[in-house]
Amino acid sequence: MTFSSVLVAYTLCALLCICSLQTVVTDSLHLQYYTHEFRGGPNSTLLITAGPGNVGNFSTLGWGSFLVFDNIVREGISANSTLLGKTTGTTILTGKAGDSPVQFIAQTLFNENYKYNGSSFIVLPGGVVLGSTGYFQGYKGYGQGVEVAATPTPSGAFYAVYLWDVYLED
Ligand SMILES: *[C@@H]1O[C@H](CO)[C@@H](O)[C@H](O)[C@H]1NC(C)=O
Ligand SMILES: *[C@@H]1O[C@H](CO)[C@@H](O)[C@H](O)[C@H]1NC(C)=O
Ligand SMILES: *[C@@H]1O[C@H](CO)[C@@H](O)[C@H](O)[C@H]1NC(C)=O
Ligand SMILES: *[C@@H]1O[C@H](CO)[C@@H](O)[C@H](O)[C@H]1NC(C)=O
Repeated sequence: MTFSSVLVAYTLCALLCICSLQTVVTDSLHLQYYTHEFRGGPNSTLLITAGPGNVGNFSTLGWGSFLVFDNIVREGISANSTLLGKTTGTTILTGKAGDSPVQFIAQTLFNENYKYNGSSFIVLPGGVVLGSTGYFQGYKGYGQGVEVAATPTPSGAFYAVYLWDVYLED
């Protein structure tokens, strides 16, 4: 072997090592959970704190409405499925036109019923997700919530469930 072929072999090996090391340390997560929200009624998890119309009256929501939520995170769509934590944050109705874009910010924190106990991430407008505490520190990715159930409750409130898919990488 000449000196240069040794050098080439060494460089190749170093590159391969770096590449395989990166493959090993990159961790990709797909989390799926359901958030349960009560709009109105005695156990409301969503509060209108400012905006047009009467504060607390969901039929007067509009441009400028500011909402604060403390929603329940569960494993499944059913109200009796395992409690995994909570998601707290704000929603602001920022659109003047009827299409009503919303600015949504939430922190989702998991409890001991989930493998990521004590870990949390933040969901920012546009579905950007940033890891915050515990296992998710330094992780980033994206997420999306879709309403999968919405039913009126006997007390005149509304019960909505959202399915969340969050993808995170370190
Ligand atoms: C509100 O929560 C309390 C305490 O958990 C419960 O006893 C009550 O039935 C709930 N009310 C409604 C309307 O869901
Ligand atoms: C909520 O607002 C609507 C529309 O302005 C009104 O008709 C209704 O009476 C209000 N409900 C309450 C509980 O104030
Ligand atoms: C949970 O609630 C669903 C209906 O939403 C019911 O079919 C199921 O039997 C309940 N499971 C338990 C363990 O209570
Ligand atoms: C879950 O996390 C909390 C807060 O970080 C901690 O106090 C608790 O001991 C943990 N429980 C389990 C079962 O790991």
